[in-house]
Amino acid sequence: MPDVELSPPPWAPGSWRERPAAQQPEWPDPVALKVVHARLAALPPLVFAGEARALTAALSEAAAGRAFLLQAGDCAESFTEFTADSIRDKLKVILQMAVVLTYGSGVPVVKVGRIAGQFAKPRSSPTERVGDLVLDSFRGHMVNDDAPVAAARVPDPERLVAAYHQSVATLNLLRAFTKGGFADLTQVHAWNQAFVASSTEGRRFEGIAEGIDRALRFMAACGIDLSGERTLHEVDFWTSHEALILEYEEPLTRRDSLSGQWYDCSAHMLWVGERSRQLDGAHCEFLSGIENPVGAKVGPSATPDDVVGLCERLNPGRVPGRLTLITRFGASAVAERLPALLEAVRAEGHPVVWACDPMHGNTITTEDGRKTRRFDDILAEVKGFFAAHRQVGTWPGGLHVELTGDDVTECLGGVEEIVEGQLHERYTTTCDPRLNARQGLDLAFRVAELLRA
Ligand code: PEP
Ligand code: CO
Repeated sequence: MPDVELSPPPWAPGSWRERPAAQQPEWPDPVALKVVHARLAALPPLVFAGEARALTAALSEAAAGRAFLLQAGDCAESFTEFTADSIRDKLKVILQMAVVLTYGSGVPVVKVGRIAGQFAKPRSSPTERVGDLVLDSFRGHMVNDDAPVAAARVPDPERLVAAYHQSVATLNLLRAFTKGGFADLTQVHAWNQAFVASSTEGRRFEGIAEGIDRALRFMAACGIDLSGERTLHEVDFWTSHEALILEYEEPLTRRDSLSGQWYDCSAHMLWVGERSRQLDGAHCEFLSGIENPVGAKVGPSATPDDVVGLCERLNPGRVPGRLTLITRFGASAVAERLPALLEAVRAEGHPVVWACDPMHGNTITTEDGRKTRRFDDILAEVKGFFAAHRQVGTWPGGLHVELTGDDVTECLGGVEEIVEGQLHERYTTTCDPRLNARQGLDLAFRVAELLRA
């Protein structure tokens, strides 16, 4: 009998279950997991399909070289470090960076937070050593707890529900801040927190803020009524996270009543990580069927064929703005590896947003076992990213960074010259080391210069 070609089963929110799923926790109680699934499926969506479509449209501008994506926030959000102030301060630094980028380069900035859902972490090893103990790895507060005891590391599906509720509260506050006056351009000075304002970068920011004030006063004096200009008084701020724990994403995936299409309503944008982007794996299967804009992390092991494969798998319809490729090579590899990928994707005619994640390829561990990153390495990767795009003639479309609005000491260097001996002073991250507000602002000034050039 001749071989019969079996076509793959059609996509459904749960079709990922037929594929190998990397990085999923071993939930100890399948019944409890099922109950949680049903509860999540009955809860309201966090975002609407129309919003996800609007983000795709905004990102299509970045794919076409007419806008720049700023995607930023925590490495891992935390159930314990969760306050209105910390959300506000993170938003402040992202708004500041966006203003610096827009003012400095004249290019519109699409603002996307790693926030309101970024609760799960892929791990390089299933176990970790803490002192003399070997424990199951911490996988993010959506899965288990980071306390260094075995019981805390047992995955608990109730955490999926807790992550949903914290995301709701976070998104509610973000919507209030961005639509309710806080993000009004006349408030630009108020985004400069005291510990930032006193620094070199903070003073540079004040210079821009004064320029904006002058421009607004000038237009008012010319008789232009700006009170009805929504874009001056409100900000479109989108949410995103790594779609890692598919037991969370599946029940939040809903069919849009207008278009009949499926949207993962846990966030506006979802991405697949470096450790879970296998073309035939569960994560690509899941992302391939949702209509949200999606991203894929691309690290040093990716070949041009892999990357073109991701484009075919995640955006076969070649919809501009649908796919963002987030490259994270490390400062030493970017110049050598990136140009071939840019050329391959361009040769296949795939419209993508190319964004630079200068964080995840530049993590080092100090002698006393602390993870950190050097500001100089971060900047070097960003410069390599821009150089590669200039060489190939493609558009360097975005920046993807881990940061906080707090005055932490997690990354080395920057204008304030944080040194290794200071890391312990304010090291509060739940996972990877983040830029503090001053380092984030500093980076934005450097990127604005690169964009202008
Ligand atoms: C992350 O973005 O936090 C992350 C784990 O990245 P990557 O998948 O690129 O390693
Ligand atoms: Co990280």
